[in-house]
Amino acid sequence: MREITIFNKSHSTREIREYFHNEKKPFIVRNVIKSKINLDFLIDKFKEEKVISLNPNSDKEILSVGSLIQKVKNGKKYRLRANTKLGNKICKYIDTSFIKNIKNQKKHLFDYLLSFGKTSRQKTLFMSTKDCTFTKHSHIISGIILHLDGKKTWYISDKRESFLSIKYKSLLNPNPLYVTDKKPNKEISFNLNPGDLLYMPAYWFHYTISHDTNISYSYFFTEPIKYYLTKTFIMFAYQAVTNPIFSLVKALKKEPEEHIYDRDDIIMRCNKIRDKKKRKEALKFFKNNDYS
Ligand SMILES: [Fe+2]
Repeated sequence: MREITIFNKSHSTREIREYFHNEKKPFIVRNVIKSKINLDFLIDKFKEEKVISLNPNSDKEILSVGSLIQKVKNGKKYRLRANTKLGNKICKYIDTSFIKNIKNQKKHLFDYLLSFGKTSRQKTLFMSTKDCTFTKHSHIISGIILHLDGKKTWYISDKRESFLSIKYKSLLNPNPLYVTDKKPNKEISFNLNPGDLLYMPAYWFHYTISHDTNISYSYFFTEPIKYYLTKTFIMFAYQAVTNPIFSLVKALKKEPEEHIYDRDDIIMRCNKIRDKKKRKEALKFFKNNDYS
């Protein structure tokens, strides 16, 4: 896969649905979501809501949505990562019918884990600001990303990475995240603009870079078990063994919002690496990736 497949309004829903179910590769649908969500909308609807943000130092900071957005408007590098609190509240203002049209509503085994706790982990809101980036990572869940405001550059692997090439396989346990090196020359990059939809399959490596403030909504879900057994067997089996289901459930019982890693958390994990050289390397690796 050298380029990502791009659909637009002229393609039939059936064609896109078939691609989604049969290919299981990333794709974009351009300009299919209507949304009025921007910074002013967030202030208008959720001003008093308290959220866990990451501040310019990549530390967690609890702020009201009103003061968070004021800081963002003043050019401060604050961000919201996978915020379930706002994600669950905002979904009624987003036309998600396109997701329902391409993805059937059947729940798969692991989807029940995503529904643990008070709020669903399936509905999340992201807000990034200039120069925000993230480590190159992949996860056990798939995502349908609806880009709502501003522009974001995505970098994704051109194929499924080999298991052996993955740099950090269990550093972030019990959160089942694989992390690896960025290779911008080999990756596929594209921008998402307001109204665009992106499908990111489970265990497909990706990261983003923001050049300006942008907002997106991600709907996370798990694939049928057949997907994990046929397409990503080693990645799935390794996590099942090293990150057994009970520790996963324990992690999931924490309120979803608290899941986001901040600088202190990552540093603490890196400092636990016994080998001095590897420890130093890990600290440098995450420092260059915004920690979050
Ligand atoms: Fe991700």
